[in-house]
Amino acid sequence: MMLEILAATATGLVVLGWWMRRAALCPVAVGARPAGRRDATPRADGTVVLMAAPTDTATDTSSGEASGTQDTTARAAKKPPKRKPTGPSRRQFLKWGMGLGWLGVLAGFGTASLAFIWPNLRGGFGARIPVGTADSILGEIDSNQGRVEFPEARSLIVKYDPSLDPEDQYADITTGTGIMALYQKCVHLGCKVPWCAESQWWECPCHGSKYNRWGEWQEGPAPRGLDRFLVEEVDGQIVVDTSTVITGPSRSAAVLNQPPEGPHCQDAA
Ligand code: FES
Repeated sequence: MMLEILAATATGLVVLGWWMRRAALCPVAVGARPAGRRDATPRADGTVVLMAAPTDTATDTSSGEASGTQDTTARAAKKPPKRKPTGPSRRQFLKWGMGLGWLGVLAGFGTASLAFIWPNLRGGFGARIPVGTADSILGEIDSNQGRVEFPEARSLIVKYDPSLDPEDQYADITTGTGIMALYQKCVHLGCKVPWCAESQWWECPCHGSKYNRWGEWQEGPAPRGLDRFLVEEVDGQIVVDTSTVITGPSRSAAVLNQPPEGPHCQDAA
């Protein structure tokens, strides 16, 4: 989200910069008096008289009236033509600048919202993802060293045998399918947790946390077992609901009695 907001802000600034260059707007120092401006002297009656800037011709009072008229005509002839103002007024510029700023904010908000709901629109992680029939998944688990991974659902899928869970701790999230979906992210600091074919455990390469086949904590710094997802069967398809991450069991709540079945793949932290 931050990325979208930064992109929108940068776009707004670029447009403002482009507009300032185009309009040839330049800052004027506070207190500076534009060239040609005359001083004003307040009178006793409160009116103000604009005083002409002193010039050589203005101070020369020794010449006659004709000479004064000639000087005035010459000055008028020398006077540079008034430049027509180009570009917007300061008020217009501020109004348009504020409008552009709001547009940038709205664009950033819209982009962030779209990015947030995008997974649900396209059916990726964050949506309910069909992963195949129960038979095909159970067959894959058998032929794949006891687990199967679905990167699209960020899920590690294992068999769930209800007879090994006498208190039905996981009955609600497996819904009679015989399949359990674990979130692949280590609950310590978020590394992806690979399968160790020797120990038949999940073993994190980052700091050595270890989880049994059902993703229950066994060793290492992880504060609990792996998080997991609801699994349901819908129209003959197993669906992993990745819209809600279900917090893993506490360290002391492990149900499956599964000692390591071989050497570990990762050293203890
Ligand atoms: S991230 Fe897995 S043990 Fe630290």
